[in-house]
Amino acid sequence: MLRTHTCGELRLSHLNQTVTISGWVQGVRDKGSLIWIDLRDRYGITQITIETENIAADIVSLARTLGREYVISVSGKVSERYSKSDKIPTGEIEIIPDSIRLLNKSITPPFTIEDDTDGGDDLRMRYRYLDIRRNPVRKNLELRHRMAIETRNFLDGLNFLEVETPVLIKSTPEGARDFIVPSRINQGEFYALPQSPQTFKQLLMVGGFDRYYQIVKCFRDEDLRADRQPEFTQIDCEMAFVEQEDVLQTFESLVSYLFKKIKGIEVPTLQRMTYAHAMQYYGNDKPDTRFDMTFCDLTSTVKGKGFKVFDEAQIVLAICAKGAANYTRKQIDELTDFVKRPQIGCTGLIYCRFEANGSAKSSVDKFFNEEELLKWKAATRAEAGDLLLILAGEETRTRKAMSELRLEMGTRLGLRDKNTFSCLWVIDFPLLEWNDETSRWHAMHHPFTSPKPEDIPLLNTQPGQVRANAYDMVINGVEVGGGSIRIFNKELQAKMFELLGFSPQEAVNQFGFLMNAFEYGAPPHGGIAFGFDRLCSLFGGADVIRDFIAFPKNNSGRDVMIDSPSVISQEQLNELGIVLNNTGNKD
Ligand code: AMO
Repeated sequence: MLRTHTCGELRLSHLNQTVTISGWVQGVRDKGSLIWIDLRDRYGITQITIETENIAADIVSLARTLGREYVISVSGKVSERYSKSDKIPTGEIEIIPDSIRLLNKSITPPFTIEDDTDGGDDLRMRYRYLDIRRNPVRKNLELRHRMAIETRNFLDGLNFLEVETPVLIKSTPEGARDFIVPSRINQGEFYALPQSPQTFKQLLMVGGFDRYYQIVKCFRDEDLRADRQPEFTQIDCEMAFVEQEDVLQTFESLVSYLFKKIKGIEVPTLQRMTYAHAMQYYGNDKPDTRFDMTFCDLTSTVKGKGFKVFDEAQIVLAICAKGAANYTRKQIDELTDFVKRPQIGCTGLIYCRFEANGSAKSSVDKFFNEEELLKWKAATRAEAGDLLLILAGEETRTRKAMSELRLEMGTRLGLRDKNTFSCLWVIDFPLLEWNDETSRWHAMHHPFTSPKPEDIPLLNTQPGQVRANAYDMVINGVEVGGGSIRIFNKELQAKMFELLGFSPQEAVNQFGFLMNAFEYGAPPHGGIAFGFDRLCSLFGGADVIRDFIAFPKNNSGRDVMIDSPSVISQEQLNELGIVLNNTGNKD
């Protein structure tokens, strides 16, 4: 037997038992008369102690050849440690070996397999199989496993059926580019990998499945960020015979259940915020509501006093940073540099301090006397000791910039604690958004999203004003899920495609299968998909989803461990009927 126990299991209650444990050598300390080996596996670390005088010579000499990450199996007696450690759960015992078997050697790993490793990102990704030996990464993946199990338990309890949908499909528009797979037997034709199983889950509703879910891989060829991977996982769900309220309540309970089961946290009933409110007060459709600091529109208060920046601005917005009046010149300069970065694009930042003694001091004192500044104070409900930060300019850009500044201030003031969770629904999204580049309306969620029935008459006259039965779940400023009530009527779906600029023929070519299905008794239906990686990283207190994925891609979409994407052989290209231009194939 290669092991009777794991390396995390043995306690004083096992004293004097003869056991066998196997694992990787974390480290060897050789003090001459005493050699200690720390043996590690997924479950923990156990100390092996060798008193060289009292142990067979072959064990001693083998112990002296062991290096980091060698794989060994040790049999021996559980003994009470002379000097105990309270740092590890097995710290009260040690193993006195009767035998040690060398199962495999290891070359020196490129970084230390420890909680705080000396390996940089690139190295860790290249040797991900070593990286996942480390506790923090393994714990993240264990959390992911638990979340998946609990999700399945919860949904199974509500009669949801897990159904697998195909991966080689035809384009589903979710707003990103498709990953494309060439077909060998149908040359010149291509599959697309699903950006989500959207159309299939709707077809399952037509098929009477009633309640579907799937923990499923989705593929999107889009710019990568900390919370985006080209292949990621959704908890994808759909329900028939429901209205928006049913979907919101069902999935609010899923998330509450996960918080309770995994983190022992009771989540209060989710706040609901309209998209319009979120944009007006947070400049963002995924507001971080762990802290207030909402926008205050000062436009009418500050215009007409001769200060050109305000007078020429479409909008002047302020946020009130509580207790930050004592910010130093240097700190204000840092904030000014922050808003001037090209990604934010402001020309400057205006501030006003409300000092503890009641006086006010602004960076535009030349134009605004104390009386004016007190008007700002009243408008923003600022108090003595607060700092107002003000941005002015074109409306959309200024709101966006203020949203970034608000988050930055939230971070600086310690208001974004990773162990505090603020969850909400953002509802009443617009159905469509205008895209200047393509000069066309685009579906804000996706083309299968139903308009609010009362707004349908506006479809012909003011499409931009039509609200959708669409909703996002936002936790701590992260969009963890999004969904909608669907169109289930062929005519309305055709109208939607028309608004989105599809010719009737294009609509039939791309989505004829769905529109045909709607003619065979499609039930009203709706659903949601959660970003599973994002949910896991939030629960794990991290911003970057990569550490919750066993084998992720790097920021250039590469898997540096297996070196993918990679070129394929000329033979494979020929079989697929693909001719590359000169720049295409590196070989
Ligand atoms: P949506 O496009 O909003 O909706 O996606 C649902 C959720 O998936 C997560 N997500 C991602 N996570 C990691 N990397 C990515 N590249 C990525 N893209 C999206 C987000 C997002 O909220 N079919 C619809 C759902 C529906 O209508 O039911 C859909 O896919 O957390």
